Amino acid sequence: MVQEATSSAAEANPVSTELRGKILLVTVDNPPVNALGVAVRRGLMAAIEAADANPAVGAVLIVGAGRNFIAGADIREFGLPPQPPLLTEVCSRIEASRKPVIAAIHGAALGGGLEVALGAHYRIAVASAKLGLPEVALGLLPGAGGTQRAPRLVGAAAALDIILSGRHVGAAEALKLGLIDRVAQSDDTLAEGLAYAQELLAAQAGPRRSRDAQALADRATAQAAIDAARADVQKKQRHLFSPHKIVEAVQAALDKPFDEALKLERQFFMQCLDSPQRAGLIHAFFAEREVAKVPEAAAAQPRPFKTIGVVGGGTMGAGIAVAALDAGLPVTMVERDQVSIDRGRANVEKVYDGLVAKGRMTVEGQAAVMARFTGSTDYAAFKDVDLVIEAVFEDIEVKKAVFAELDRVCKPGAVLATNTSYLDIDAIAASISRPQDVIGLHFFSPANIMKLLEIVVPAKVSADVVATAFELAKKLKKVPVRAGVCDGFIGNRILAVYRQAADYLMEDGASPYEIDAAVREFGYPMGPFQVSDLAGGDIGWATRKRKAATRNPAARYVQIADRICERGWFGQKTQRGWYQYPQGSRSGQQDPEVLAIVDAERQRAGITPRSFSSDEIIRRYMAAMINEGANVVHQRIALRPLDVDVTFLYGYGFPRFRGGPMKYADMVGLDKVLADIREFAKEDPLFWQPSPLLVQLVEEGKNFESLNKAAA
Ligand code: 3HC
Ligand code: NAI
Repeated sequence: MVQEATSSAAEANPVSTELRGKILLVTVDNPPVNALGVAVRRGLMAAIEAADANPAVGAVLIVGAGRNFIAGADIREFGLPPQPPLLTEVCSRIEASRKPVIAAIHGAALGGGLEVALGAHYRIAVASAKLGLPEVALGLLPGAGGTQRAPRLVGAAAALDIILSGRHVGAAEALKLGLIDRVAQSDDTLAEGLAYAQELLAAQAGPRRSRDAQALADRATAQAAIDAARADVQKKQRHLFSPHKIVEAVQAALDKPFDEALKLERQFFMQCLDSPQRAGLIHAFFAEREVAKVPEAAAAQPRPFKTIGVVGGGTMGAGIAVAALDAGLPVTMVERDQVSIDRGRANVEKVYDGLVAKGRMTVEGQAAVMARFTGSTDYAAFKDVDLVIEAVFEDIEVKKAVFAELDRVCKPGAVLATNTSYLDIDAIAASISRPQDVIGLHFFSPANIMKLLEIVVPAKVSADVVATAFELAKKLKKVPVRAGVCDGFIGNRILAVYRQAADYLMEDGASPYEIDAAVREFGYPMGPFQVSDLAGGDIGWATRKRKAATRNPAARYVQIADRICERGWFGQKTQRGWYQYPQGSRSGQQDPEVLAIVDAERQRAGITPRSFSSDEIIRRYMAAMINEGANVVHQRIALRPLDVDVTFLYGYGFPRFRGGPMKYADMVGLDKVLADIREFAKEDPLFWQPSPLLVQLVEEGKNFESLNKAAA
């Protein structure tokens, strides 16, 4: 007998019910991930009501159709007016059921999905299931009883760990913690769930409610865990809103009766929902999924690739080789001579040595990975390779020579990629006989760690090569962003501009330490001068020297960094840069001599220093970033504003809770940003030229998000 659960929702009911003997099977089928949209909430409510009212039902079994149990609330509904029933009401209704309710979990039971399971009376999960309360990553807290039921089931320490980290917990660990009751013997969720329900029925096991669980009974232990979490959050997550609320919600679980604490959880949830951090983090969630949706990947099939070639075994080549090896791909590296290839191999091996030393890899594991690595000084080693990534010196002639070799030896159809940071990839492509196969793959250092991969699309490249690059990103677990060819692509091009704004601020009166502090306060892990010390001041110095001949003589040029570099102060590696790093320490100390150099340079430039508040520092820094971001979108270097956002979130340490520079601009208001730029332009009209796109959007009363939506 198949019975449809009644629902007032106009759309097809995503919750179906079917009586299997005495067990009412409730299936949530809401692709792609069974999110708990309003129709699902109504369907679940109706199913439980029906079960309670039907004497033929002895127990209820909730399962998810497809790949997951339930991946949580429907994130797309946040920010819209809430529609009844609220998820917290659904979970409470499930818990209040007079018939025992069992959740059988496979795939993801996340956020509201796990909360539905915690509302149920018994939980069984297949071994591969992932459970978690990841709301914190969206600027939220579990708002459907998760902060109340989880601590009562697993104790305050474990619940706080799960909720504050948002991590996914495997079934075995979930069992150990007491989050579930059983790990299934097989992967057949339905059969296992039905058997478990049958067993409970036979044992006449009634409802067993999480709200009555006793893991908080030892109050002193629970309070100590909450105090520790509170201190940790205050120290490490100062900038974030929801972690503080999470701790207070768990405190309420300890202090207040369940129903009262549940109401408080709802209040905290609503506060989080209203916070700009929620808007920023949810923007980031969708943006990082949208970036892979590019026209070429939709139009063409990727070329198959099983083997990777890397030219150059320096910082980047070795990192790229490790990223590919980590993804299980065999790698062939070519260097210019034996000494260099030995060093290239050593650079790769060093990464795994580090893992072995930390106990994260066995010696045998290292040997197995290195068995997939081949080093050579002969380009002929690339003759069967499917995809080659060049990472040699940043010099167009050297690169062209390498591509000539690749053109000569590689098989037809091999993808030929360059990791150049700035050079003209169209020119590299035009220098060989197969420009359609040439693409930019701009990795970030360290390439085996950093998630961002700019996929730089030259004019002549064929669509399937672009699709292959996106497929490679997936394989390497990178976040790919499509970029057009220009000096610096998306990231480095914008960086160059706001970095210049920081130099102007410094010469006009803010110290590098004030600028760094303001940028950190904004939410970055480091300020721009600390970053320069980490990366090595010599890198930027070399670029400035290279570009000196082509620099606009009318443009303002701040020489302070050159004065620092002339002293050999390149940052951490020389124990001195903008900061001092005594005895190789990594946390820099302010340097009075640097301040004296800054002062001397201001005098030389005839500038009377003035003071800047943190607010003005950020307004200038961000206006420069946003304005160039708008130019990059305007010129189609980035497909959409969200591509700029993802680039900065994953490659430049932009605080995720602000969503990215373009999202931040939307939140501040584009009219305000433009007004700032026009104000700053009074001093330096050459530098502060409003982007035509910014002007247009302000005139039309639109924001950057409107462009994201239009492209979707
Ligand atoms: N709501 C709406 N859409 C969602 C969603 C959700 N909770 N979770 C995923 N999606 C969408 C994605 O945007 C994507 O859409 P697209 O195809 O149009 O781009 C699609 O589902 C597939 O998602 P993924 O590409 O991420 O698929 P994967 O298979 O790689 O991953 C997943 C699946 C592990 C479930 C992952 O999607 C995920 O982590 N989802 C978010 C889980 C989450 O944060 N849940 C908590 C929500 S907040 C909450 O529950 C509040 C409550 O406490 C009141
Ligand atoms: P590196 O100097 O550490 O390594 C370059 C390697 O290329 C050296 O090992 C050198 O022996 C080798 N090489 C030079 N000519 C060669 C040739 N003809 N054939 C084979 N090998 C040759 O340089 P790094 O930092 O790894 O940079 C490489 C490329 O990656 C550059 O284009 C750079 O702009 C780009 N890049 C660098 C980033 C960084 O943070 N270092 C970040 C992103 C891109």
